[in-house]
Amino acid sequence: MTKINNTVAIIGLGYVGLPLAVLAREKGWEVLGIDINEPKVELIQRGQVPFRDDDLAEALKKHPIQAGTDFSVVANAYIIIIAVPTPVTASNHPDLIPLTSAIANIKPYLKQGHTIVVESTVNPGVMDEVISPLLKDVPAVHLVHCPERINPGDAKWSVRNIPRVLGGYTKTGVNNAKHFYESVLEAPIKVMGSPTEAEAVKIMENTFRDINIAYINEMARSFAVLGIDITNVIAGAATKPFAFMPHYPGNGVGGHCISVDPYYMIERAKQVGFDHKFLKLARRINEDMPSYMVELLLKASQEAKLPVNQLKVGLLGLAYKKNVSDIRNSPALKTLALLKKQSITVQTFDPFIPKRSDAASLSEVLSNSNAIMLTCDHTKIVHSLTPQHLQAAGIKIVIDGRNVLNMPAIVRAGLVYYGIGKMPHPLSASVK
Ligand SMILES: NC(=O)c1ccc[n+]([C@@H]2O[C@H](COP(=O)([O-])OP(=O)(O)OC[C@H]3O[C@@H](n4cnc5c(N)ncnc54)[C@H](O)[C@@H]3O)[C@@H](O)[C@H]2O)c1
Repeated sequence: MTKINNTVAIIGLGYVGLPLAVLAREKGWEVLGIDINEPKVELIQRGQVPFRDDDLAEALKKHPIQAGTDFSVVANAYIIIIAVPTPVTASNHPDLIPLTSAIANIKPYLKQGHTIVVESTVNPGVMDEVISPLLKDVPAVHLVHCPERINPGDAKWSVRNIPRVLGGYTKTGVNNAKHFYESVLEAPIKVMGSPTEAEAVKIMENTFRDINIAYINEMARSFAVLGIDITNVIAGAATKPFAFMPHYPGNGVGGHCISVDPYYMIERAKQVGFDHKFLKLARRINEDMPSYMVELLLKASQEAKLPVNQLKVGLLGLAYKKNVSDIRNSPALKTLALLKKQSITVQTFDPFIPKRSDAASLSEVLSNSNAIMLTCDHTKIVHSLTPQHLQAAGIKIVIDGRNVLNMPAIVRAGLVYYGIGKMPHPLSASVK
């Protein structure tokens, strides 16, 4: 019987596992971090965060954790939390290998009474059909699903204060997991009727977001044809105090969650004969945004009378979202590949990912370009892209994939500007 102690083992020390590990340490837990990636583990052992997160780096310095690659240490833990990746394959099918191999790796060391919490995002049914059967011959362990909802780079909502849902197979497991999360979080925890319900909550949140972004991307492209500025329309619609929730168009959806999780649901439903038309369409619309960016560039090149073979594009921002260094499924990389396919000259820059950037600085990339495509709205980049700066660098075309640049000033400076459904408002010009 595993005694209630103050040790938590966390398997997978990435964007989800490491912040939780450091928070648990801060709250007084002994933390045993385990990961299969040795260089990552070595960095963490030296007190460094393997990805860019300044707040987490500070916190890890104050609250160092034990990290290693040896799974046998889970034998000493009260609770074991699994936060390994759940990606999709090249054909967009769920890839559960990291999760099932993490289970296989801890299995020899499990003891009666252990509580195992899966935090990785999975579709409804994975806990029942994949994880539980893998552990059926281990006596009296408690299995719980508690999906993580972290939003890296978000200053307001962090692992500390985001409410949780969890669902387990036994009362003891639910109570143990609840005890752990209550001891580290400053947020409520809702117990669901089953692990399946907890899985479904997470899938619903992320498909909701993908669908809403696809909807607004479609409206942006339609309004662009009609000459209507979507940013003004969203601001107008957002004055309605009920039944409208603003979402914003952009150059695509990336990361390890929103661009991946819908496929888990699509594939699971397909197995039982249900066709998720809506989820599939949303994925198609969002997957198409990187090529829309190239379409806008080609349109702008005609308007600026700059032939395609003379374009020198500065692609700004490689990460999938602002102020992070994560490039998983980044739409910027898709746009980059499409530009290269068309033999368009392109140079990249991302201040968070110098190793993947062609240029060493924003000034360097601007001085080598006559067009820019903003593919990620890192604050540092956006603040520097003033019309004066662009003009002085000889930029002729601006494709604003995040609708964040000062369009009127850029247009006044004589540059060709295209945003995602963002354009000079004909009425506001004539009303003055
Ligand atoms: N990144 C996010 O914003 C986010 C938010 C909410 C939920 N999630 C979900 O959380 C899970 C983890 O995501 P992440 O972004 O932290 O991934 P990540 O790639 O940043 O980290 C996962 C870590 O697990 C390690 N790993 C892989 N296989 C392993 C194994 N078999 N045993 C031990 N370690 C293993 C990897 O080396 C890596 O360090 C995924 O299911 C994801 O969908 C992610």
